Amino acid sequence: MSTQHKATMSFSDGTPSVEFPIMTGTMGPDVIDIRKLYGQTGKFTYDTGFLSTASCASTITYIDGDKGQLLYRGHPIEQLATHCDFLEVCYLLYYGELPTQSQYEEFRSTVMHHTMVHEAMQFSVRGFRRDAHPMAVLTGLTGGMAAFYPDSLEINSPEQQDISFIRLIAKMPTMVAMAYKYSIGQPYVYPKNDLSYAANFMNMMFATPCEKYEPNPVLVRAMDRIFTLHADHEQNASTSTVRLCGSSGTSPFSAIAAGVACLWGPAHGGANQACLEMLEDIQAKGGLAKVGEYMEQVKDKNSGVRLMGFGHRVYKNFDPRAKLMQETCKEVLQELGLEDDPIFKLAMALEKIALEDDYFVQRKLYPNVDFYSGIVQRALGIPVEMFTCIFALARTIGWVAQWKEMITDPEYKIGRPRQLYLGSTERPVTPMAQRKG
Ligand code: CMC
Repeated sequence: MSTQHKATMSFSDGTPSVEFPIMTGTMGPDVIDIRKLYGQTGKFTYDTGFLSTASCASTITYIDGDKGQLLYRGHPIEQLATHCDFLEVCYLLYYGELPTQSQYEEFRSTVMHHTMVHEAMQFSVRGFRRDAHPMAVLTGLTGGMAAFYPDSLEINSPEQQDISFIRLIAKMPTMVAMAYKYSIGQPYVYPKNDLSYAANFMNMMFATPCEKYEPNPVLVRAMDRIFTLHADHEQNASTSTVRLCGSSGTSPFSAIAAGVACLWGPAHGGANQACLEMLEDIQAKGGLAKVGEYMEQVKDKNSGVRLMGFGHRVYKNFDPRAKLMQETCKEVLQELGLEDDPIFKLAMALEKIALEDDYFVQRKLYPNVDFYSGIVQRALGIPVEMFTCIFALARTIGWVAQWKEMITDPEYKIGRPRQLYLGSTERPVTPMAQRKG
């Protein structure tokens, strides 16, 4: 990280100018190191929504939003999604390099031998209402892991960090499937460790004690790709939440639970559910014939309607994950003989109109990964309410890799943003009897 250049900040209120080092990373915009700003001037910076603020230094994931580029540890997402399975990607994100064959076998075996959750966890699941949103259940279960593994609180022990990582990767699919089975009143299906990571998850979702589930390789590959495409995405809202929560030194399971809670929102991980519901709603109201009318609503600022699955804070050209997901979508629909699926056709029509419409072109709004991932998941038989849980399952590796990077960073400090206070200045308390009105 070079710091050759400097930025000078001058003030019109008489405060003397100050110089700040400019830090240059391996790629991406330079960063002005303003950590001494308050000490030297008594002023804070103001950047709600982190529009111009790098909250940390990281070596894990790189995004160039203008180029539509996404790299995990330097490797393009297109190549990872084509040549690697999700467990290779997990290894890469956490350890920094792709595994050799023997490292992969050992890692796979370790992960797959930690897939069972403590038997008592099923009582936690049973404590929830059956109609609870599975993301509410998953938030509780993930945080609850801290109760089963208190040693995880030794956050500075490399051994405990690695054990927590393995436990999270291994048990998240089991917990997601448990939340689903409970919601539909079916018994939990125990993990089958001889299956692949994705096939095991699908088996826990779809098998029953009375009916065997035969994983279809095309669908398993699609599931695996969904995991890879969602594995990490640099300092997004849920990852920043994990870092901020974890910065207090709490258990990694608690920090990841905070990430799950953040991901649930419709502007983040909940968008795939919102997108599919939007498509189903348009379909119910008349399908293709209603697309024009819907687009008018989307463009009307007063309607509060957004085209879900479109737009991204960082990607202003295209979302490379959306291209890969569209490819997978076609493969899955073909495999299942659903090429004429009306929802898919509707999505294609909306995409075409949006890409040619001035409103979207001017604002650089392109389909994001959620635009197609909902259609794929629906074709795989996953109910809409479970979509965000699948995203959480996949993003767990990103969260845990970023958590580990943070707590092993020599510059690591508890996160503590400051504020621009706009409330009352100091005023006395009037005793209740003397308050008017
Ligand atoms: N439909 C219609 N208009 C939109 C949309 C959309 N989906 N997204 C942005 N705009 C407009 C917005 O109204 C604004 O217009 P104007 O400049 O005239 O006021 C302009 O585009 C910029 O929008 P913004 O809200 O300032 O952009 P942002 O960077 O804060 O928001 C976003 C990014 C993803 C929250 C937003 O695009 C959105 O709400 N999209 C729909 C939800 C969605 O698909 N989310 C999934 C994100 S990808 C998954 C992930 O990585 O988490």
